[in-house]
Amino acid sequence: MINKKLLKVMNEQIKYELESYYLYLSMAAYFHSISLDGMAHWMRAQAHEEMIHAMKFFDHILDRGGKITLLDLKQGKTDWKSILEAWQDTLEHEQFITQKINDLTTVARNEKDYASEPILAFFTGEQIEEEATASRILDQVSMVAENKSGIFLLDRELGTRIFPPGSPMDASAAAK
Ligand code: FEO
Repeated sequence: MINKKLLKVMNEQIKYELESYYLYLSMAAYFHSISLDGMAHWMRAQAHEEMIHAMKFFDHILDRGGKITLLDLKQGKTDWKSILEAWQDTLEHEQFITQKINDLTTVARNEKDYASEPILAFFTGEQIEEEATASRILDQVSMVAENKSGIFLLDRELGTRIFPPGSPMDASAAAK
């Protein structure tokens, strides 16, 4: 049975992961609206990954006999003044999520909830990767700044991100 304090923060984490899903979906809509479909594609793939994250916590709680409580999602940002601002928000958001995973790990350790160690170790590693990726893309966006051909090339590169097969987030798969 999952520890009660950990259950509470893990239910909150489902909300944060779903808010991440929503944020990246909003960013996908923003990038589509300015015809940067490669960046939109990257954000759609990121949103897909966030739904998987939410479901990992969802299933962990179920497997351990806990009660799922789906909380209200906060209204997130729905527009950005620039491409740079969107990528800055991406990195900032991932740093926020890393802090939440650290907080979860602290609760699990304090409560001696050893069964949650594998899933929390997975997310600790995942956050290193997510921050590194967001930081690298932000650096590249800053590098090309107002250079339109640089943005165009970066957009094409980000459009090559691979979706898991059958993802409903993949516009090209949905069109088939
Ligand atoms: Fe689920 Fe991007 O952290």
